[in-house]
Amino acid sequence: MSNDLQKNTTQGKINAFDKNSRALKSMGGEKQIKKQHDANKLTARERLDLFFDKDTFQEAQLFVQHRSTLFGLDKKEIPADGVITGFGKVNGRVVFAVAQDFTSSGGSLGEMHAKKIWKVMDMAIAAQKPFVALNDSGGARIQEGVPSLEGYGGIFYRNTTASGYIPQITAIMGPTAGGAVYSPALADWVFMVKNSSYMYITGPDVIKAVIGEEVSHDDLGGALAHAAKSGVCHVVAETDADCIEKIKQLLAYLPDSCHSALPLLECTDGAERICTELDAMIPDKGNRAYDMKKIIKSVADHNEMFELLELWAQNIIVAFIRILGKPVGVIANNPRFAAGVLDVNASDKASRFIRFCDAFNIPLVTFTDVPGYMPGTNQEWAGIIRHGAKLLHAYSEATVPKITVITRKAYGGAYIGMCSKQLGADYVMAWPTAEIAVMGAEGACNIIYRNEIKAADDPAVQRAELVAAYEDKFNNPYFAASMGIIDEIIAPRDTRKRIIALLESLKDKKETRLSKKHSNIPL
Ligand code: HXC
Repeated sequence: MSNDLQKNTTQGKINAFDKNSRALKSMGGEKQIKKQHDANKLTARERLDLFFDKDTFQEAQLFVQHRSTLFGLDKKEIPADGVITGFGKVNGRVVFAVAQDFTSSGGSLGEMHAKKIWKVMDMAIAAQKPFVALNDSGGARIQEGVPSLEGYGGIFYRNTTASGYIPQITAIMGPTAGGAVYSPALADWVFMVKNSSYMYITGPDVIKAVIGEEVSHDDLGGALAHAAKSGVCHVVAETDADCIEKIKQLLAYLPDSCHSALPLLECTDGAERICTELDAMIPDKGNRAYDMKKIIKSVADHNEMFELLELWAQNIIVAFIRILGKPVGVIANNPRFAAGVLDVNASDKASRFIRFCDAFNIPLVTFTDVPGYMPGTNQEWAGIIRHGAKLLHAYSEATVPKITVITRKAYGGAYIGMCSKQLGADYVMAWPTAEIAVMGAEGACNIIYRNEIKAADDPAVQRAELVAAYEDKFNNPYFAASMGIIDEIIAPRDTRKRIIALLESLKDKKETRLSKKHSNIPL
């Protein structure tokens, strides 16, 4: 820092302050900034400029310096200690944020860098406002040693403390390796930028040395790998600017905290809108796929939805929509992928989404078209029993308004799992195309009429007759409706209207669970 600080006139002190602030704000210098831009990355300050409403960002602890003297650090100044922290407004709402500055010692995390992050996380928790981290870092500052690890520990602890209290979003906008991946993993939502970000526990070199496998950075831990294969990344962005824009879009669906009202957006979409297109959505043939996302968009205000984990476990859809301006969480089987079956990943995907929505008082709407759980050794040994149980737990535990719409199949245990009445759905509606049964008619008849079919002169004809009779009984919603297992049969075109009426009537819903420390979800 400049010696001008020593000047003892008021103007001299102000000038020195301005000069030192400017120097700290110029980050790692022109050469490093050019390197950052050449890698198609914005600098940390450019990212924050894009993120916050103009002139609202208040920087905290700009003057923090590291205090390590090890391995030459005593001679190294790291502007702002490699991380820019503070708060500002995003579309008029207060958000706390940190952005690691890769141009300053690779955004590496040392003791003081971590303490700056702790400070802003503590403020976000106390202020009950969302916390956003823009990560771009070489990881633990190697010269500092164990204080860096302690720094990460303090971040993980705060991520956990804040979980379910304030929304937490992390964007991976550069490298994230080793234990550093766990702060994003503990956050609610992880964004990654294509081609410039990666996350892994151990990189390609270590993997090659230890197990002899060869893989590139991108194949191992790039945005698409985590969006489509591991399910770690919830939203993929094309560029840094796209990433910032998408974070803002998501924030617009989220309340400030679990104690805050849901954000209300102006809605010009009519409460009485009839969705005539929905009457023609379900194909005549039961095994034909259709576009469940069209149904969700039809029902949503202005046909808009914000989908998460779009490329992972595509047999289930999780998304935010708005109904009359208010956010709603949607979970829907997707008949276009594996017939919308429930498997290990689909169960995990939906369960975590349900728990997020419940924690932040976002009502749930479930669209059901599920043929069952995925059979096979692969799924059994991957623990479909334990993962499927998460879904039962998450729905049963959720006390927000829960509305279910059965569009077609609702078979067996999977029917129960998709927010059936006994898991606490407030209201279950079925379209006339619904089929609510223990299992599909073919499978059912093969079991209950095995002997009759075998003994018949023409087993194929006999089977077809028995299947038709079973279908008559169960391939419709009327048997379930007659027993009150579902509450209503509705015309598809009225789905939006019905959901609006239900959300309105349930808006003050209060439901409690037994008083205890916490439940034990089958993780
Ligand atoms: C200190 C680091 C650093 C680190 C980068 N730098 N990572 N300084 N500690 N972890 C510095 C570099 O020395 C360089 O400083 C500047 O940042 C830019 O780095 P480059 O290597 O020039 O950039 P690039 O070629 O883009 O490569 C980026 C990189 C590479 C792939 C991230 O820097 C790298 O491999 N870094 C080490 C990664 C790592 O092993 N981290 C520790 C992981 S263990 P100068 O002064 O030359 O500009 C860990 C444990 C956490 O994180 C556990 C938590 C529980």
